[in-house]
Amino acid sequence: MQGFSISVCSLVLVSALILTNEIEIGAADKTFSVLDYGAIGDGFTDDTSAFEKAWTDACNTEEGASTITVPEGKTYNLNPINFAGPCKSSVNLEVSGTIIAPKDPNAWNGHDSSKWLTFESVDELTVSGQGSFDGQGDGWWNISCKLNPEPGCNKRAPTMLRFESCNELTLQDVGFKNSPQTHVAVAGSSDVHLKSLTISAPDLSPNTDGIHLQESSDVSVQDSKIGSGDDCISIGDRVSDIRITNIDCGPGHGISIGSLGKSGNEVDVKNIEVRKVTFHKTTNGARIKTWQVGRGQVSHILFSNLEFTEVENPIIIDQYYCETRYGNWGSNNDVKYQEAFGTSSTEVAINLNCSHNVPCTNIGLDDIELDSAVEGAELISSCNNAFGTAEGTVQPNSCLQ
Ligand SMILES: *[C@@H]1O[C@H](CO)[C@@H](O)[C@H](O)[C@H]1NC(C)=O
Ligand SMILES: *[C@@H]1O[C@H](CO)[C@@H](O)[C@H](O)[C@H]1NC(C)=O
Repeated sequence: MQGFSISVCSLVLVSALILTNEIEIGAADKTFSVLDYGAIGDGFTDDTSAFEKAWTDACNTEEGASTITVPEGKTYNLNPINFAGPCKSSVNLEVSGTIIAPKDPNAWNGHDSSKWLTFESVDELTVSGQGSFDGQGDGWWNISCKLNPEPGCNKRAPTMLRFESCNELTLQDVGFKNSPQTHVAVAGSSDVHLKSLTISAPDLSPNTDGIHLQESSDVSVQDSKIGSGDDCISIGDRVSDIRITNIDCGPGHGISIGSLGKSGNEVDVKNIEVRKVTFHKTTNGARIKTWQVGRGQVSHILFSNLEFTEVENPIIIDQYYCETRYGNWGSNNDVKYQEAFGTSSTEVAINLNCSHNVPCTNIGLDDIELDSAVEGAELISSCNNAFGTAEGTVQPNSCLQ
């Protein structure tokens, strides 16, 4: 009896071992090195087709996860690429080397000039690694309308990395610099995690947002250092459930919700939390910017634990005045600023500038202590059609009605 049960036991054990083995083999990551697809990585040779071929094979892997490796110590020169899904497996793009964009804007002839590397309809995508992306954008900056407002000047320069309709996306550890325009854009996606990123471009580079989010939900951005010529992070018209935590921002234009509702777009922005951000010499700190022609609403926004160093407009809401009455700040909205301290380089440190047609309601100011960056100068707060409550210390004094 005893002998029988032992042998049944070992049988179960043996088959369990075989099973485990099979599962391991079936689920093993398949790895595709771009070097095996002909990438040279000397910084000059065009490596575009090697990346495209590696992508096609990785994306068509039937089971488990596939990993594309971009080995370190090399510089890969890529023309615009559209990495299209849906893929049969989850895909990891592991970037250890440096990936550079063409210097010459003419390399985009025949391509959409608003894109460089685009991932489209790829679920369960991870882009990570100690490597980096260099947009070499100064050729684009030189012909931008912002720096050269002449007939024929250029408005649509490429976004370095764009994710469109990518659910369950992780972008982690990689660095970005000198994008022709926005560095990282996420659109039409949900369950997105952006973590430990370093983004840098000169403070005078035009429209070089660090991260831009639009039409997306359930997005976290954390533990990142962003300095650029435009917003460190900008949030577009239809986003919800966004958590931004532990960001070092500067130089740049701060963290901006908006411009919302430009050209009459429907606006639905809700559940945005921005916590633990340091702003260095940025033009704005926590900003909400709306166009009056926009329809829809902005609600449940929290800015908490902010530190400002010589920021021009630490706390600012600006609504552009307009004759139409369509704009709606939202009936249940609340926008709260709490635990903010540091220095303002201009007199109006808190500027809540809302319109008569669409006042801002339910604004909260709680524990705000701002000083002037100019020794001996006083700060003020300024309110137009701004309603709400102040709690704790608020310095300069609250002007909320
Ligand atoms: C852009 O303009 C700057 C300043 O004039 C110049 O130094 C730089 O070489 C230009 N870059 C390109 C790629 O043309
Ligand atoms: C408020 O906005 C109006 C219209 O854009 C502008 O003229 C005014 O200067 C702003 N006020 C402050 C204090 O910024």
